[in-house]
Amino acid sequence: MIEPEKAQAHGRWSAAMSHFILVTLHLYAAILFVGAVFFEMLVLEGIRKPVGHETMRTVETAIGKRARRLMPFVILALYGAGIGMAWGYREELAHPFASSFATLLAIKIALALSVLGHFITALTLGARGKLRSRQVRFIHVSVFCHVVLIVFLAKAMFFLTW
Ligand code: HEM
Repeated sequence: MIEPEKAQAHGRWSAAMSHFILVTLHLYAAILFVGAVFFEMLVLEGIRKPVGHETMRTVETAIGKRARRLMPFVILALYGAGIGMAWGYREELAHPFASSFATLLAIKIALALSVLGHFITALTLGARGKLRSRQVRFIHVSVFCHVVLIVFLAKAMFFLTW
């Protein structure tokens, strides 16, 4: 028979291991996702003028095609691992105003859900042929601001207390 202390230690070890796996997966997916958003806003927008309208359209179409193939997996890993980790914080999240950590994590999750909402809106408008370049620009700027805040909150929640 396994001693109770050993069983307890084993339980703690496997919980820590699954958290480690989830946080690592979440971080790689976040790097890919946030990296793509930063690249779009800070690099691609900056080459629009020198590259010219026609070439830029070709580049954007090719990037869009690639992103539509890759991003569903990245989003699945990002949100799946996020939900898995949030489950471990379910007691804190049940009382989002009871601690600074719970408040910041709840805001981070709300912002992440809003990012998903942006995607669904863009896909729906695109499918209906109603996605104009003004809306694309607005969605890009808004998602950029969201991810800047999400990454800040993801780290601040472990450091800021009140
Ligand atoms: C746009 C979507 C998201 C981005 C860019 C993002 C980004 C991040 C980053 C950069 C971290 C810090 C990882 C580290 O410790 O180095 C983090 C942590 C975390 N995220 Fe997300 N995240 C997103 C969505 C979500 C969602 C949807 C959930 C839950 C429903 C979630 C739950 C968490 C939790 C619980 C942690 C803390 C992990 C820990 O204990 O260290 N995230 N996130």
